[in-house]
Amino acid sequence: MGILIFLVASLLLCHQSVAYGSYQEVGLDVLTRELLASARESELFEWVRGIRRKIHEYPELGFEELRTSEIIRSELDSLGIPYKWPVAKTGVVASIGSGQGPVFALRADMDALPLQEEVEWEHKSKVDGKMHACGHDTHVAMLLGAAKLLHAKRDQLKGTVKLVFQPGEEGYAGAYHMLQDGCLDDVSAILSIHVIPSLPVGAIASRPGPMLAGVGIFSATIQGIGAHASSPHLARDPILVASSAVVNLQQIVSRETDPLEAAVVTVGYLEGGKAHNIIPESARFGGTYRSMTMEGLTYLQKRIKEIIETNAAVHRCNATVDFMEERHMPHPPTVNNEKLYNHAKKVGETLLGKSKVELFPVTLGAEDFSFFSQKMRAAIFVIGTKNETLKADQPLHSPYFFIDEEALSVGTAFNAAVAISYLDSQAQLVPCEGTDQSVSAFETKIV
Ligand SMILES: *[C@@H]1O[C@H](CO)[C@@H](O)[C@H](O)[C@H]1NC(C)=O
Ligand SMILES: *[C@@H]1O[C@H](CO)[C@@H](O)[C@H](O)[C@H]1NC(C)=O
Ligand SMILES: [Zn+2]
Ligand SMILES: [Zn+2]
Repeated sequence: MGILIFLVASLLLCHQSVAYGSYQEVGLDVLTRELLASARESELFEWVRGIRRKIHEYPELGFEELRTSEIIRSELDSLGIPYKWPVAKTGVVASIGSGQGPVFALRADMDALPLQEEVEWEHKSKVDGKMHACGHDTHVAMLLGAAKLLHAKRDQLKGTVKLVFQPGEEGYAGAYHMLQDGCLDDVSAILSIHVIPSLPVGAIASRPGPMLAGVGIFSATIQGIGAHASSPHLARDPILVASSAVVNLQQIVSRETDPLEAAVVTVGYLEGGKAHNIIPESARFGGTYRSMTMEGLTYLQKRIKEIIETNAAVHRCNATVDFMEERHMPHPPTVNNEKLYNHAKKVGETLLGKSKVELFPVTLGAEDFSFFSQKMRAAIFVIGTKNETLKADQPLHSPYFFIDEEALSVGTAFNAAVAISYLDSQAQLVPCEGTDQSVSAFETKIV
């Protein structure tokens, strides 16, 4: 329904006037200054920090974020913000604004990692073997902070902002499952932030186009015939198959991939046998494959299967290769929409200063935000959390991961500022004089 109204409205707009860059500089300057000041104001900051700490103490793994989801809903209830729940089991989608298009979305992931926290501090994880070591606790808190800022301005919003609290980012494709619900079908653009310990507090970064890799995982089982080590001729040695397959897998990248394209095939585990003098019946190994393109990803998957099966055949063994696509769906590469990237970059520069917005290098890390980037205009920005005095410089997924919580204000304000100014920039599209038949609704919507 929302889409229809929006498409019809889009038809009435003038193509030539559509430009992100036309957002008034002065307006943006005032807006960002006001939002950052509000986010830093002690009552709001302490509320955001309190939510972050509460979630940090009780981390939950993918699709188990019941308590986290409850905290989110109870805060939305007290703010008086309506939401849909459950979306993809534990997810929540809140709406602020006119209820009409355009719809801009802000996304936060909610899940923690199966990792024992090794940082000794007041709000250390109270759950053994689980930790928010990827900062998703902070993402939720910053999105709720933005919710408060946006709610205060709800009457001025020139459209709707949807707040997307997503489960299961860490390998569960939670983003994909959120999209299946359909409640995000009317979203025209989406922003996500992710904390990053390599940048200082007050700095942010991103890049236009491909930023993070597409990824899949595989596991292989080699079935041979066991025998005493002194009689190898009676065996079909699965250890030998695994060894040669692992070596041959290295050549997909070194001999079959254009040196100017990025790809990774990493074997992360290898197990087989228990004794010095026994050739075992079977061996297992597995790993991850990554590429910056969908075609690259498909090629890697095909060749991994062929190489393992062929190596098994050479040594008269059998192999099964499993890509576990049901539970661990391969993720496409994360590609930032250039227009949205430019818009958010400009907002960041106005908010924090030009020198504080850096160009993020391409890495072969992955994010399930990529599922959004396949469906709609999307951009992800990283928010610096480094402070060496606080030992807040350990990498993501480390048991020593720690952040300078001052960064929470930056993320809160950035979320809100990008959303408000995006809707403002869309509202500047002026109606055409007469009808311009050459403008398609899709074109107008997507520029
Ligand atoms: C491989 O599979 C074939 C067909 O199922 C079977 O006949 C053979 O015994 C298997 N070989 C090994 C080494 O397990
Ligand atoms: C790092 O944290 C300390 C302690 O909170 C603070 O005094 C200092 O200003 C922070 N440094 C930076 C660069 O933000
Ligand atoms: Zn992570
Ligand atoms: Zn993460």
